[in-house]
Amino acid sequence: MNILVCGGAGYIGCHTVYELIDKGYNVIVVDNLVKGHKSSVHEKAKLCVGDLRDEKFMDIVFKENNIDAVIDFAAFSLVGESVCEPFKYYENNVYATLKLLEAMERAKVKKIVFSSTAAVYGEPNKDIISEDDNILPTNPYGETKLTVERLLKWADMAYGIKFIALRYFNAAGAHISGKIGEDHNPETHLIPIVLQAAAGKREKVYIFGDDYLTYDGTCLRDYIHVTDLANAHIKALERLVNANESGIYNLGNGKGFSVKEVIEEAKKVTGYNIKTEICDRRKGDPSVLIASSDKAMKQLGWKPKFNSLNEIIKTAWNWHVNNPNGYND
Ligand code: UFG
Repeated sequence: MNILVCGGAGYIGCHTVYELIDKGYNVIVVDNLVKGHKSSVHEKAKLCVGDLRDEKFMDIVFKENNIDAVIDFAAFSLVGESVCEPFKYYENNVYATLKLLEAMERAKVKKIVFSSTAAVYGEPNKDIISEDDNILPTNPYGETKLTVERLLKWADMAYGIKFIALRYFNAAGAHISGKIGEDHNPETHLIPIVLQAAAGKREKVYIFGDDYLTYDGTCLRDYIHVTDLANAHIKALERLVNANESGIYNLGNGKGFSVKEVIEEAKKVTGYNIKTEICDRRKGDPSVLIASSDKAMKQLGWKPKFNSLNEIIKTAWNWHVNNPNGYND
């Protein structure tokens, strides 16, 4: 099968490309390289540098590569930035995805796996979240992802484009080979920040609030290994092919770890001390976000393999040690 991976040079995208190639798929990556890294793209994938909004370019990509299905990761994903620059998020995350769907419709490609997020839930009213719980995004990032989920539903009804939207919880870790990993600029995610502090690249980690109603006062998150996320996309593709049915699925480990627990685990993994300072809460952070992934396990036959925080942090540290400055592009 020929799979078009949009945003395949980004963090979760490039890990998915590795898994697809490992399983014998033919992979075509489209990325405008605004956030992505060229060197993260597997050498066996065909990289087409361009933008989803460029109709001519997209028509050529579909035509020349005889695409069977699409996996779409192309998006901006910084919650804080989305609050300050909502237009930028609607333009890139909603409008560009609409243009992708239009190109799919012109090319008569009817299957898409879409990268969604736990941010669609906003401040949940339950600790363990299921797909049919309240949806109320508290930031434009989550809102744009929800908007696309809804657009996909209508595209299915109107054009028969079948979709699977995967709502990721906290993606973390790196490929077991140490060849690809997490490199954002600016970095805002907890685990890479903690590892930068362990490596002496940051003086300390600022803990955003210790007055939450959790057992140690810091926020709980469900950390899921990026390769487990990547494999869920392949399971989703298989389901689209076999069942031809649209659906929405959470992806997480089902266990929450506090910010303080992550820091303690990182000290064990790295063997370095990590200085911390408590500061104010970060705006828009829910106190607890933990997934029920029962639906993905039952319907997609997906099961995370990295189910300890220790293993997840170890792979992230391995990448960090081998690539202290991230990618060079
Ligand atoms: N945190 C700190 N200090 C830091 C960075 C993070 O204390 O320097 C805390 C945050 O407050 C949060 C936890 O660590 O409690 C995890 O923060 P991340 O930024 O790593 O991840 P988020 O939970 O904020 O974000 C994740 C995804 C987003 C998604 C969001 C849904 O990365 O894409 O969950 O709420 F939108």
